Amino acid sequence: MNREWSLAELAAAYAYPETGSGARQPWLRANMVSTLDGAAQHQGHSQPISSAADMRVFGTLRALADVIVVGAETVRQEGYRPARARAEFAAARQAAGQGPAAAIAIVTAGLDLDFSLPLFTSPLVPTVILTGAAAAPDRVAAAEKAGARVVVAGEGMGVDPARAVRALADLGHTRQLTEGGPRLLGQLVAADVLDELCLTVSPMLSAGDAQRIAGGPSVTVPRRFGLESLLEEDGFLFSRYRRS
Ligand SMILES: NC(=O)c1ccc[n+]([C@@H]2O[C@H](COP(=O)([O-])OP(=O)(O)OC[C@H]3O[C@@H](n4cnc5c(N)ncnc54)[C@H](OP(=O)(O)O)[C@@H]3O)[C@@H](O)[C@H]2O)c1
Repeated sequence: MNREWSLAELAAAYAYPETGSGARQPWLRANMVSTLDGAAQHQGHSQPISSAADMRVFGTLRALADVIVVGAETVRQEGYRPARARAEFAAARQAAGQGPAAAIAIVTAGLDLDFSLPLFTSPLVPTVILTGAAAAPDRVAAAEKAGARVVVAGEGMGVDPARAVRALADLGHTRQLTEGGPRLLGQLVAADVLDELCLTVSPMLSAGDAQRIAGGPSVTVPRRFGLESLLEEDGFLFSRYRRS
């Protein structure tokens, strides 16, 4: 099939559900890409298993979100940049009461981040750092000095996934998107706070021992999700699954 989905079509296909009743009810979706044999990266990066169509879906999901939640290792390895304002989505974002671009929220215990990166020096909206109450005070101070908003979402060093989701919603970020990585996504799955998975199936085989899209200890009973939609472009499948 040679159908190219337009940004408008993708935005409609991936619209966040109404979570209802004026309450700040969060909706957390993940967007991940995997090869046919389950690899979530190749040689440390997801770009080799992605495609132009996948990047359009990726960009659309970012443009629909209030906040993009990401693990610190993905920030370090993928050279994360702040979300950008895109003219194609400006009117829709304004109508939805959203700022020009989503905030990036980094989950980290150690705050071992390069605060001279654009993520901190030139975001359109301040980058959020989600960490534990026991995070090193000097790193917290450095993050705040760099312009980040530090939010405590856990008692020790670590972040409690459910508390993080709630804390972001309390900041007004109810349309939540996580881009992993696998260690973070595994915890979101285990804590049962993931509402939706947007999974790109990349028509590639890579063998090897790359991570799957979600890692960490397995859950006792596999969580059941239902298929909401399935698009195809250039052999890539764009699935959208919702928690049953
Ligand atoms: N296929 C895809 O769609 C996709 C998407 C994203 C990433 N990736 C790939 O995945 C790899 C990176 O993923 P990863 O699984 O190794 O790492 P990750 O999940 O991105 O980040 C792990 C880091 O996040 C922080 N963290 C996670 N859970 C935490 C918690 N509960 N409390 C506090 N901090 C927490 C820790 O940061 P600190 O060490 O700073 O404390 C931890 O080292 C890269 O190769 C990337 O290319 C693939």
